Amino acid sequence: MRKQFPEGFLWGASTSAHQVEGHTCNDWTVWEKEHAEALAAGAETDVWKEWESRDTTKFPEMFDPKNYISGTAADHYRQYEKDFDLAVSLGHTAHRLSIEWSRIEPERGVFNEDEVAHYKQVISSLRTRGLEPFVTLWHWTLPLWLRDEGGMYAKHFPAYFERYAQKVAAALGEDVTFWITLNEPEVVAGHSYLKGYWPPQKRSYLKNRRAVRNLVSAHRRAYKAIKHVDPDSKICVAKHNVYFEAYKGRLVNRLLKWVADWWWNDWFLKKIVGYQDVITLNHYHRNLINYGFNKNENKKVSDMGWELYPASLAAIAREMYVKYKLPIYVTEHGLADADDSRRAWFITESLKHLHGAIADGVDVRGYLHWSLLDNFEWDKGFWPRFGLIEIDYETLERTVRPSAQVYAKICRENALE
Ligand code: IFM
Repeated sequence: MRKQFPEGFLWGASTSAHQVEGHTCNDWTVWEKEHAEALAAGAETDVWKEWESRDTTKFPEMFDPKNYISGTAADHYRQYEKDFDLAVSLGHTAHRLSIEWSRIEPERGVFNEDEVAHYKQVISSLRTRGLEPFVTLWHWTLPLWLRDEGGMYAKHFPAYFERYAQKVAAALGEDVTFWITLNEPEVVAGHSYLKGYWPPQKRSYLKNRRAVRNLVSAHRRAYKAIKHVDPDSKICVAKHNVYFEAYKGRLVNRLLKWVADWWWNDWFLKKIVGYQDVITLNHYHRNLINYGFNKNENKKVSDMGWELYPASLAAIAREMYVKYKLPIYVTEHGLADADDSRRAWFITESLKHLHGAIADGVDVRGYLHWSLLDNFEWDKGFWPRFGLIEIDYETLERTVRPSAQVYAKICRENALE
């Protein structure tokens, strides 16, 4: 049966500056060079921890230090027009990208107008192609001066962020309706200040909480600054929510689910109620709870060992709509799948469930797949392949994956067969 999506539903894909642009100079650029050898040497055990059934022979790049240095990445900074042309050829009507703060404000309080003009041009290239821009202000990387002042842990982080948001909104606001202030705040604060995986590699509960509180404040201040520039803008945080599922509805599992939802899914969102106009949802995981967390069935997994469970996107959208009653845009959802053997299936099945949720009244208005291009996957480097479009990192050649064509048909028809 044909499943028609609502008229005006937005279809597209997402990226972030540091992961695809290349040629950056921020805290990650420096950290990668300092840690590439160690990351390559530790790949065996580090990946093992996360994925017990992986086949390390499939990705020899993970043992090569070069894998961990973002360098030129997909060269999207220079090739964005070509990439947007490809997006249009794939039936997309929206696109998410991020602005690289370190380019805009390379020194504290000093703005680089050439870079502001660059992003103005990028946004206008989207508009002229009929792609609705979703603009993320901060997708985790920091200018070096801000890193030196303590990054998201710094006392003045919220004030600095507000000033940066004001500057970018004033420059680009004319062409932008959807602003995502922060990407996955609790993920970056957790990896950087609790687990100690990402720069500055701290392991402190108190530091983590201070970083998260700073991010709440940064969002609220940026919200007001952007609204001041354009009261009609739609402002939100790209929130990484997990679908916690209580196995067989057992009491213990339900209690654990309640705690997990409170801690991971809702804490941040509750702090910014009144400061969000829509929900932008990043979703990858189910977490099946059966007297403990992560009892997932793992019938199918991605190259990174993440369970591919297509029902979970719709399930979390349903839960969020009940709680927040705001229109939802999916701003990330995808998988690392180098041989493209699971992507088409995963997208199609997930969208079938999402269509069911919409039919039941859940107000979902768009789906942006992660990612348009293969990208630099942070401390994992380049080997995980998330792109609808494959990047040859030697030649920078772009090749549309077959799954992207399957997705393109859905986008063009605004429907699933
Ligand atoms: O690549 C990341 C992205 O930067 C943030 N959300 C999850 C993606 C896949 O891990």
